[in-house]
Amino acid sequence: MPRPSSPDPARLAPGPERAQPARAIAGYPRSLRRAPRLPLIARAWSRADAVALARVAEPPAPPFLDLSRVRPTAPRAMGQLMELRGLVVDEEGRPIRRALVEVWQANAAGKYVHHNDPSPVPVDPNFIGVGRVSTDAEGRFSIRTIKPGAYAVPYETEGGATDWWRPPHIHLSLFGPGFASRLVTQIYFPGEPLNRLDLLLNSIPDEAARERLIARFDPASSTPDGALGFGHELVLRGRRQTPFEEG
Ligand SMILES: [Fe+2]
Repeated sequence: MPRPSSPDPARLAPGPERAQPARAIAGYPRSLRRAPRLPLIARAWSRADAVALARVAEPPAPPFLDLSRVRPTAPRAMGQLMELRGLVVDEEGRPIRRALVEVWQANAAGKYVHHNDPSPVPVDPNFIGVGRVSTDAEGRFSIRTIKPGAYAVPYETEGGATDWWRPPHIHLSLFGPGFASRLVTQIYFPGEPLNRLDLLLNSIPDEAARERLIARFDPASSTPDGALGFGHELVLRGRRQTPFEEG
């Protein structure tokens, strides 16, 4: 039996540090608690990092996810309907099929359905804001959802920023074909005034890398029933890698 092709382990190395968020961010105490205090120890990448399958959803989720309703017959959630067309590629621009994309986001008012969200902002009974989608044979996926609202980050007394608002964003967790293609990131929206103030987004020194986290407005993906279209490309590994942003 022929052996599967072996990707060059050197290509698995993540992009430059300045294209990633800082591990310790002033004003964000949680980042200080979890950031390593000692220099990182580099290790060589192996073939196992490239091909070890992270098969976490079997059968794979479909390539389309609708978060705008909790059931097909339920009322649409409040807020601006949007259609996000995503593309997942590897470091050479080749589409990654069957990547698992997990999604979570706040509702249109900036509220998560989660016990860790203490804000007094109302939940929407017609919106949960979590789901899974997989890429198709061309590396594409689409998500119909509600554009999330901005929210004030709860103030932490020991060194926390007192006036930090998160801009509208959608959290994504991706499982590519191997452990090295694992990615946790966020998608931001173009033209949002809070983008230039956000502690997480602006902890990435490289401007081009910050821009890679912002979706593009895509009128061609807008739909007559009121969904605004956005497009976004995610790159797993390499120099153009989508920044890894846990938040
Ligand atoms: Fe968030």
